Amino acid sequence: MKELRTQVVIVGAGPAGLLLGQLLQSEGIDNVVVEQRSREYIEKRVRAGVIEHGIAELISDAGAGERMKREGLVHHGIELRYDNASHRIPLSDLAGGKSIMVYGQQEVVKDLVALRLGVGALLLFETEATAIEGITTDAPYVEVDGVDGKVRISCDYVAGCDGTFGVANRTIPTSVLRRYERTYPFSWLGILAEAAPATEELIYCRHENGFALYSLRSPTVSRLYLGVRPDETLEQWSDDRIWDELNLRLATEEVPEINQGPIIERGITAMRSIVVEPMRYDRLLLAGDAAHIVPPTGAKGMNLALADVRVLFQALIAQLKSNDARLLDSYSATCLERVWRAEEFSTYMTQMLHPSYEDDFENGVQMARLRQVVDSREASTVLARNYVDLNSL
Ligand code: DHB
Repeated sequence: MKELRTQVVIVGAGPAGLLLGQLLQSEGIDNVVVEQRSREYIEKRVRAGVIEHGIAELISDAGAGERMKREGLVHHGIELRYDNASHRIPLSDLAGGKSIMVYGQQEVVKDLVALRLGVGALLLFETEATAIEGITTDAPYVEVDGVDGKVRISCDYVAGCDGTFGVANRTIPTSVLRRYERTYPFSWLGILAEAAPATEELIYCRHENGFALYSLRSPTVSRLYLGVRPDETLEQWSDDRIWDELNLRLATEEVPEINQGPIIERGITAMRSIVVEPMRYDRLLLAGDAAHIVPPTGAKGMNLALADVRVLFQALIAQLKSNDARLLDSYSATCLERVWRAEEFSTYMTQMLHPSYEDDFENGVQMARLRQVVDSREASTVLARNYVDLNSL
């Protein structure tokens, strides 16, 4: 088996792994990123497109914000829609002038990949991490298998940025690991359409048929979602049915129809929450989806992952440059406090906007919540602050 030596092995080239690699690189910490999928796959994987204020700053500070600043769309508000009427939440007014950046996750990934390859740092695509070993010793290593055959990469630390089903969280013994989980009785059907957005701001909509979300990617591309039952499949949703349902749920008196265009991407995503504890097992550190999943309402997934990386980067620097272990020791507790806040916000948004198909008492409570958020400045301020900058509060 070939051998390689680095300071930090980063498993997974999603936004978390790539940003960590970039930050460590900028501080002269040697690292290797291994990714099971191809470059094409990770650059095309469509995910949410809302970046919090502080996370956009983090991306820029890491030197990866140039195209985002040029092409991303800065938004200062969102709309909440119910009973076919719209109510604007003025995010920036309520959240101390801060705004959100609408920029697709896969664009962040593309920018980070280009940066890394530009400086010639090691990024191994189509390379699976098959085992993480020696984590409780001072000589951990990761065995990988890819286009170059099997390689053993020795290191000081391993960052597990490889998602829920990756090898990293499976490496933590079950006697140590605690897993909190919740599934929701909904899925999201998401489409990307070549249609000029018929809205300037994102619209979160509750309709008795289900949730709908109107988002966008550029002046010519819209991103739209429908809440559907968890057992529904794409085959049941023809283009016509998708547009009819979007029109029905999103219609208002002023705007009865939304712009339509060719659907260029579609998918159904189940909704769930997962929290894994602890996020550190000796020399293995989990970040992003490897440690937690949030339901998509509110678009917290990537923001949460990159906020983990911000903490992890500082902790690794302190350890590797100054032999100071304090930040690594508090890494898991520091992150988990924020992770649970994000779970709380994401479940709150989910529960407020997805009508129950069974429980009309629940529906009454949801409507009361929505009206409170719209009518009360205190309630909308809480929503705005969490929406715009939860991960930096
Ligand atoms: C998007 C996704 C979300 O989950 C959300 O809450 C807002 C926007 C998006 O894909 O643009």
